[in-house]
Amino acid sequence: MKHYYKVLFFVLLIFSCYKPDDGIVKEPFIATSTSFGGYIAWKLEATKTGTDTTLAAAHQGLLTNVTRKIYYKNGQSRVDSTYPIGTLIVKESRNDSAIVEIVAMAKRGSGFNTEAGNWEWFLLENKGGTVSIKKDSSGNELRGGAAMMGGMCNNCHKAAKSKDFTFSK
Ligand code: HEC
Repeated sequence: MKHYYKVLFFVLLIFSCYKPDDGIVKEPFIATSTSFGGYIAWKLEATKTGTDTTLAAAHQGLLTNVTRKIYYKNGQSRVDSTYPIGTLIVKESRNDSAIVEIVAMAKRGSGFNTEAGNWEWFLLENKGGTVSIKKDSSGNELRGGAAMMGGMCNNCHKAAKSKDFTFSK
């Protein structure tokens, strides 16, 4: 009988610790360097190679030996035409296997960058497998909304408005 109570106690303890995960990320979603670690294992949604003149200098589109790989965390898809808060997408460009550029976007929410679907833009770096948000010479992280890179990210990605500002999926 004594043991029965002990078992019951532990069962109740386990249940009281359990919180159902509804998968909904709270707003605002503020990504950190850690958010992007391991992107190479995310779902590869598109691979593009070679020069792309519509990209021009963006995303190293003028390099002839470039391969651009687009990874979506958990292969996230749009839900009712928009990507959920917390969605993370990374695009890695390599030229002859050396990484030449990594950019990313994160669904931040809370009225951020209203011109372009509340997305936040990022420049990343990968040093020997350690992924982090790039910093300028003053130590500020290279991230932002409508003003990022003088509005370049927003302006070009607006062409993909019907797919919530992402081209690849
Ligand atoms: C000249 C147009 C242009 C500019 C400027 C641009 N992008 Fe893109 N971006 C694209 C295109 C087109 C793709 C689709 C993949 C491809 O063709 O390589 C893309 C893909 C991406 C992706 C993968 C998700 C997707 O939409 O397919 C991310 C992340 C991304 N860009 C981030 C950025 C960031 C951050 C900036 C600003 C620093 C930026 N982009 C500026 C055109 C642009």
